Amino acid sequence: MSELVIKNGKLVLPDKIFEGDISIDAGIISKVGKDLKGDKVVNAEGNYILPGLIDVHVHFREPGASSKEDWNTGSFAAASSGITTVLDMPNTQPPTTTVKLLDKKREIAASKSTVDFGFHFGASTENMDELRKVEKIASVKFYMSSTIGNLFVGNDAVLFEELKILAERDIPGIFHAENREMVQHYMQRLINEGRTDPEAYSDARPNICAAEAVNRIIFLSKMAKNRLHFCHVSTKEEVDIIARNKSILPLTAEVCPHHLFLNKEDLRKLGSLVKTNPPLRSKEDQNALWKGIQDGTIDVIATDHAPHLMESKEKDIWSAPAGVPGVETMLPLLLNEVNKGNLTLNQLAKLTSENPARIFRIKDKGKIKEGYDADLVIIDLKKEKKVRNDKLFTKCGWSPFDGWKLKGWPVMTFIRGNLIFDNGDINKIKGREVSYG
Ligand code: NCD
Ligand code: ZN
Ligand code: ZN
Ligand code: ZN
Repeated sequence: MSELVIKNGKLVLPDKIFEGDISIDAGIISKVGKDLKGDKVVNAEGNYILPGLIDVHVHFREPGASSKEDWNTGSFAAASSGITTVLDMPNTQPPTTTVKLLDKKREIAASKSTVDFGFHFGASTENMDELRKVEKIASVKFYMSSTIGNLFVGNDAVLFEELKILAERDIPGIFHAENREMVQHYMQRLINEGRTDPEAYSDARPNICAAEAVNRIIFLSKMAKNRLHFCHVSTKEEVDIIARNKSILPLTAEVCPHHLFLNKEDLRKLGSLVKTNPPLRSKEDQNALWKGIQDGTIDVIATDHAPHLMESKEKDIWSAPAGVPGVETMLPLLLNEVNKGNLTLNQLAKLTSENPARIFRIKDKGKIKEGYDADLVIIDLKKEKKVRNDKLFTKCGWSPFDGWKLKGWPVMTFIRGNLIFDNGDINKIKGREVSYG
């Protein structure tokens, strides 16, 4: 007899849907089968069950900006929406560029997070020695132009030397790929022209800025022989270059919900609220991202959950901070597409769980499979609900998707067998740092 059995689910396994039960012992999936018996039973009532989502791109803002988000609120927001593991970005204050600072962040997360967690370490122009010794990280993040937090590597020689260190140590490099000089040039030009309309922000970072940076990193990585992953791919040009290089390089790519579901038109309507780096693009770019998902060029969907307070977003397009929150809306947005027939549940599970675990070598997560952590989300594909700012767990208190009516919502989330989200209620547990294989 198992400790816990979740019965009558439609289980989204890596390559099929299986109608049956999951038994859980000591937080681990002990069996996937039919008619399993347990001391405790949860009835999934014929709903689909996904492996818990692994969001490889969040900014939970601690240390340094806990007025926007902290590990408590950020992890609640994640848990309420089927995300059971997050990988946090290093552009905190101070940035996570030394082993010491990383250890501090580990302590904060361990004491406050309800979801499981891991970290991307930050590359700077000065921290090569740290890159040689840092352990237990998902990757090293390179900001090629400054974004929020003023962390970047602005010198190609240093960048190349750092990539070689990663290659030696077999750590993936991940990239915020935008050409810094180009961004500065175009931005200054538009400011000088007196542009203040929200769309000016997209025009200030045209596609070439991202495409050039991706192209350069691909070349440098080919020479340095490191593994590489592109964050928030947003243009058709990037999709193109990535597709052409995927078979010859250990190269993976991520897109974010805001680039999949919003475009320049929304920037016109919502203004600074949807200012983000890289910016919202054209309808054509949006279509190229969806096509990249369908043909396998894109491996991961992650949120780039980048909360900022509403009052700071109320500034003009040049002064407002860049970034939008996303952990609470990713899964319902994608389930809504499943309902429309644009995505299958198996694809969704690959993009948000299996591939993230594989790419960052997160142990025992990413699949509904015997021996794996019992990180599970029960979803109700028929549930219709509006995204509402006043119902969110994120500390920033708003979503760019406020008012969107979506069909398909998570109803229960389990982390290592613990029921942490139950139809609107959060049960706080202690999240644990992931290990890497
Ligand atoms: C991010 C943030 O606010 O930390 N902002 C953003 O526009 N995406 C930084 C980043 O990921 O570039
Ligand atoms: Zn970024
Ligand atoms: Zn980001
Ligand atoms: Zn509202």
